[in-house]
Amino acid sequence: MKKFWLLGMVGALVLISGCSDKYTPSTNATPESIFKEACVKCHSPVNGKVMALSPEMANTAAIIERIKNGKGFGMPAFPNLTGGTAEGLAQYILDNSATK
Ligand code: HEC
Repeated sequence: MKKFWLLGMVGALVLISGCSDKYTPSTNATPESIFKEACVKCHSPVNGKVMALSPEMANTAAIIERIKNGKGFGMPAFPNLTGGTAEGLAQYILDNSATK
């Protein structure tokens, strides 16, 4: 039985860490290059718009919050995108998104 308990613990750890993306931008990264490296695999632009934001998401504070904390099982948290980097990225998304 001890083995099953251990397997369960390992499984739980994988689940928890699966919700977070350890991507770290290089020092000369731009919001655009960060988006291409870390986000495009899930958020592919449509008609040049990187995202279709719902009205409550269409501000930098909400976008920064989403980058920091992620959402559910689909959107990972990015603990290494912080401060000015997160702000620049949020502004880039806002400027290049459609609103629903
Ligand atoms: C592994 C796939 C994946 C990656 C990588 C990813 N996202 Fe997401 N993202 C999602 C999913 C799925 C949702 C929708 C989550 C929901 O609403 O339940 C989402 C939602 C969002 C939203 C909210 C949009 C809205 O209108 O509700 C923002 C903002 C966002 N992502 C920004 C980013 C940024 C910035 C990056 C890169 C740093 C990124 N995402 C990387 C999967 C991903």
